[in-house]
Amino acid sequence: MMKPNMHYADLKDSYLFRRIARKTDAYLERHPGTHLYRLGIGDVTLPLPDAVIRALHEAVEDQADPARFHGYMPECGAPFLRETIAAHYRKRGIGLKDSEVFVSSGASDELGDILDLFDRSCSALVIEPAYPAYVDANVMAGREIIHLPAGPWNGFLPEPCEEAKADILYICSPNNPTGAVFSWEQLGRWVDFANRNGSVILFDAAYEAFIEEDALPRSIFEIEGAETCAIEICSLSKTAGFTGTRLGYTVIPEALVREGMRLHDMWVRNRTTKTNGISYILQKGGAAVFTDEGQAQVRANIRRYKANAQTLMRALDHCGIRYYGGKNAPYIWLQCPDGMGSWAFFDYLLEKIQVVGTPGEGFGSCGEGFFRFSTFGSAEDTEEAARRLEKLLK
Ligand code: MLT
Repeated sequence: MMKPNMHYADLKDSYLFRRIARKTDAYLERHPGTHLYRLGIGDVTLPLPDAVIRALHEAVEDQADPARFHGYMPECGAPFLRETIAAHYRKRGIGLKDSEVFVSSGASDELGDILDLFDRSCSALVIEPAYPAYVDANVMAGREIIHLPAGPWNGFLPEPCEEAKADILYICSPNNPTGAVFSWEQLGRWVDFANRNGSVILFDAAYEAFIEEDALPRSIFEIEGAETCAIEICSLSKTAGFTGTRLGYTVIPEALVREGMRLHDMWVRNRTTKTNGISYILQKGGAAVFTDEGQAQVRANIRRYKANAQTLMRALDHCGIRYYGGKNAPYIWLQCPDGMGSWAFFDYLLEKIQVVGTPGEGFGSCGEGFFRFSTFGSAEDTEEAARRLEKLLK
């Protein structure tokens, strides 16, 4: 008899965002035709930048021309895109080789796939509250997970400590869900800790484009010593609106070696075995993000999401509700009012004002009593949601 992976039995009954979708679907079944103000999952609402759309169209035309047609793409990424991304890092003072950049189908896919590099006996440190896929992907692999609590007492940015010793260290900065960002000094201490203990940091930089303050690091590779202990996973989903289009990139320095194995070379071996590359059309669209025109359009879209953040933060201020984030990240992390539980608050907002957020408990037990709003909704929906929140909670 085939033995299934029994670790799946250790997972929670459903993934956070599926549970939310089930609840909202059930609400809509009971109240057909109702408009919901969706500030739950961090899904973008603005279309792709014009520069990207134009590049995608041109790439489609290439595929119609026998002289410009592309079949299989190189598994680790098209040279033109790897070069573009490495040059983008170099502009920020980070010296990368083109070959250290791997093109991916997005950060969430990559965060799961990259675990192939680690033995099943490796332990994983998750700073909680955390993006739930970190935990679930490791539960599926049967790994030991160490939960390091974060909260208002440490600014949601815990320091390395004896209990945090693990083989794989997840760090997400700007953080999903709390919006907190590690400083240079704080990240420096995590890098030293990882190098000292032979750990590997999986640095989730999906939200780096939202950092406003120049004094904060956007990449782990701005930190000295990171090239011997870190992998950076990045995405164009939130930066440039690729949530449905799917494109991201991962940086694995050649200097990252454990037990004589170069993780970079292992990943080349993995990708050349398990993928046939990302489509030419998407990679052409992705390259347009890094042109001057693309960057200007990306920044304009991010400004519009930041205006949503201001709208929501103003409403929360008027209601006297304590919150975090919103400045250097597209998420606002608030304390549920009157000591309400986070799922109870979810139901309350859905039933009373048709606003959908994300219950903090979905990001781990440290998130209980908190709630997350995404700022990726449309301006109209966000403004109406803010009005309704004020009316209900003031
Ligand atoms: C979130 O809402 O936390 C993210 O959108 C989920 C994701 O990126 O997969």
